[in-house]
Amino acid sequence: MISIKALAESPDLTSVPPTYIANPKTPNDETQPQLEHSQLQIPIIDLSLLTSGDPDQRSKTITELGKACQDWGFFMVTNHGVPERLMSGVIEGCREFFDLSEEEKLEFEGKHVMDPIRYGTSFNASVEKVSYWRDFLKVLVHPHFHFPNKPSGLSEIALEYLKQIRVVVVSLLEGISKSLDLEDNYIYKTLNVDSSLQIFIANLYPPCPQPELAMGLPPHSDHGLLTLLIQNGIGGLQIQHKGNWVNVNPIPNSFLVNTGDHLEILSNGKYKSVVHRAVVNSNDTRISLAIANGPALETVVRPASKLVESHSQSPAFIGIKYKDYVQLQQSNNLCDKSILDRVRN
Ligand code: OGA
Ligand code: NI
Repeated sequence: MISIKALAESPDLTSVPPTYIANPKTPNDETQPQLEHSQLQIPIIDLSLLTSGDPDQRSKTITELGKACQDWGFFMVTNHGVPERLMSGVIEGCREFFDLSEEEKLEFEGKHVMDPIRYGTSFNASVEKVSYWRDFLKVLVHPHFHFPNKPSGLSEIALEYLKQIRVVVVSLLEGISKSLDLEDNYIYKTLNVDSSLQIFIANLYPPCPQPELAMGLPPHSDHGLLTLLIQNGIGGLQIQHKGNWVNVNPIPNSFLVNTGDHLEILSNGKYKSVVHRAVVNSNDTRISLAIANGPALETVVRPASKLVESHSQSPAFIGIKYKDYVQLQQSNNLCDKSILDRVRN
């Protein structure tokens, strides 16, 4: 395996090798509808208002959260209570991981898609025709905590960070349940979130000599419920919104949250998982850290019966065990919402 970091650091690299040409600037980008600036304002959720004792503030924030899930599938979370030093510390630890020697990192190379620790490049090199300008470290961290033993200190800081993330996720899921007119703890209980699958995904996108030709990650949706992403101050995440690719310019220290396929399934299609991608640039190394939070692996997820009955709709999706879904997504090409389409009724 040749990491993209090693490739990008080769002194005579002036163009993108053919296998990395993904042509992200398809005609689609030029013909995208022009939306008003006001239509491109990414929703912001102030978490302190959602958890505050003030019932008016809370219900107003629940409405905003529901609207963000319905209209965007994406929002930024501020006032979440996770300390800044923890966020910057875990990003710094990810940088140190990618700075380990190639040999050291290869100790963590996963052989199978469900291996608990998996260092690799691109997305799923065994099935891809095009490679992506990205190295990654993926670790299954809940309900059982796995972690590489290098670099020193990262495992401890990650453990603390992940614990705090789960608290934020539980608050958001309560608000989202409520916004769907379900009991506060409906999602938590039905999807066994106390033993939820949580995945730590560190992404490294080194500078690219021809960023217009290569892609960090192709358009895709995430499989779980909510993914919380932070980055090292360098942008690159784009989300699809009303036919446009919208650049995400985060409020400092906020979480970038996207809704996943299982929220779309649970909500019977009311909340659509957002299609997003990562583009690269020629100047800076970008590091992002995505924490994917899903149901428990053994849980069979289907549309909430109350949502199907009360709107006398038919279920938009078949029930599927989360584990089977994750395996399907991780063993295929990452491509838009192709896996969700397989479970549509
Ligand atoms: C992901 C992802 C986007 C980014 O890891 O699933 O979408 O900006 N990452 O790195
Ligand atoms: Ni993603």
